[in-house]
Amino acid sequence: MASPQSFHTSSISQRSNLPLLFKLRYPSKPPNQARMPTISSCLVSDRKQKAGPLSTEKLLSLATKEVIELEARVMVGTYARAPVVFVSGKGCLLYDVDGKEYLDMTAGIAVTSLGHGDPDWVKAVAEQANALAHVSNVYYSIPQVALAKRLVDCSFADRVFFTNSGTEANEAAIKFSRKFQKFMNPNEKHPATEFVAFTHSFHGRTMGALALTSKEKYREPFEPVMPGVTFIQYGSIEEAKRTIQKGKTAAVFVEPIQGEGGIYTATKDFLQALRTFCDEAGALLIFDEVQCGLGRTGHLWAYETFGVEPDIMTLAKPLANGLPIGAVLVTEMVSSAIASGDHGSTFAGSPLVCHAALAVLDKIQEPSFLDSVRNKGLYLKELLTKKLEGNPHVKAVRGLGLIVGIELDVQASSLVDACREAGLVVLTAGKGNVVRLVPPLIISEKEIDHAVQIIAECLPVLDATIS
Ligand SMILES: Cc1ncc(COP(=O)(O)O)c(C=O)c1O
Repeated sequence: MASPQSFHTSSISQRSNLPLLFKLRYPSKPPNQARMPTISSCLVSDRKQKAGPLSTEKLLSLATKEVIELEARVMVGTYARAPVVFVSGKGCLLYDVDGKEYLDMTAGIAVTSLGHGDPDWVKAVAEQANALAHVSNVYYSIPQVALAKRLVDCSFADRVFFTNSGTEANEAAIKFSRKFQKFMNPNEKHPATEFVAFTHSFHGRTMGALALTSKEKYREPFEPVMPGVTFIQYGSIEEAKRTIQKGKTAAVFVEPIQGEGGIYTATKDFLQALRTFCDEAGALLIFDEVQCGLGRTGHLWAYETFGVEPDIMTLAKPLANGLPIGAVLVTEMVSSAIASGDHGSTFAGSPLVCHAALAVLDKIQEPSFLDSVRNKGLYLKELLTKKLEGNPHVKAVRGLGLIVGIELDVQASSLVDACREAGLVVLTAGKGNVVRLVPPLIISEKEIDHAVQIIAECLPVLDATIS
């Protein structure tokens, strides 16, 4: 069956069961004659679908097989999902419809940093849902302003713009960069509009963020995407020096640690050089910390590890521990270019998500919490190295804090499937050849032991995988 690859990577994995999904979606077409369904077959299946509406109660009590079959009929097929239906979670444990327990080394995709059902987070969400879940950005709300103040107080930034996701945060950063260049160069007929991004980068799926995402497979079906993006080698100071140009480069987008691309960590020299080249060219330096920020490295911000500050930083995934939120943190200089009406969002920064995010920050900002993430990250990497070293399929174990990758010489999907069968959920990254471990940051050493044990025991399945 398909692996639980993140939908980003791969999500159509080498071993994903596309023919089966196709069969479920278009029952009248055998997979080996896969063709697009005719309009009349769509209408027939539509009528069938609508003939028997199910009550919410019935829908919410479907069994695994029924959920998988229904999904294949009623959802657009963007995700290659693993055949498991999760219904509850507590801490680092997840439970499926049949009550089977899984140890969660995914946290969504680096989202639920406090684990599932953290009591303080639940309390904040319930309190705010009772008081006021949503109010439009036509008005003020206390949790939104309080969260902005908290983010400003604990980072390089002076001001914040809220979004609902990581890709939207990057989209906003693109707009802010363009506006900034116009604002700073009012007499220029053609102020800088271009962007520099890197090999293995992932910045999101909307048309601007997608243009900054390196994998051609993601961009190509939707071209033309936003023009004017140059991709250069992640880590190459020489290429960066040549490419970042005054009057041409509006901004440079970089992940201090690349998650989706395969868990690659930048060097201090590389980020420092980007800072210098951007300053010389009047370009903005943008750190995408959507995946690596907010405590995952054992520092609140990944950039702290390198001692280099950006002009803009984008955040999302763990900020509200699973509720949709993104944020763009900017300096006063960047903010000064942005005027009322330049950007906005109906949902972003709602009292509900912002109150939840404050509960998250209350915990992860604690120095003792961050210390524990650093220690557990070292423990995880050491244990993986010890237990997996010597296996011919394991090429490298890398990462920082609790964002760790195991690079293999073959596709990781059979290992991921075997781990899941054994009660451990993990993700892939890179070209599908990296096992990505991004557990809830509250994971215990005992749970780490258990996870590593399962991975080690499942490794032999790779012997049957052809590279
Ligand atoms: C570094 C990075 N930026 C942006 C995104 C896009 O975030 P979202 O899926 O919330 O749009 C992701 C998602 O994986 C990411 O890892």
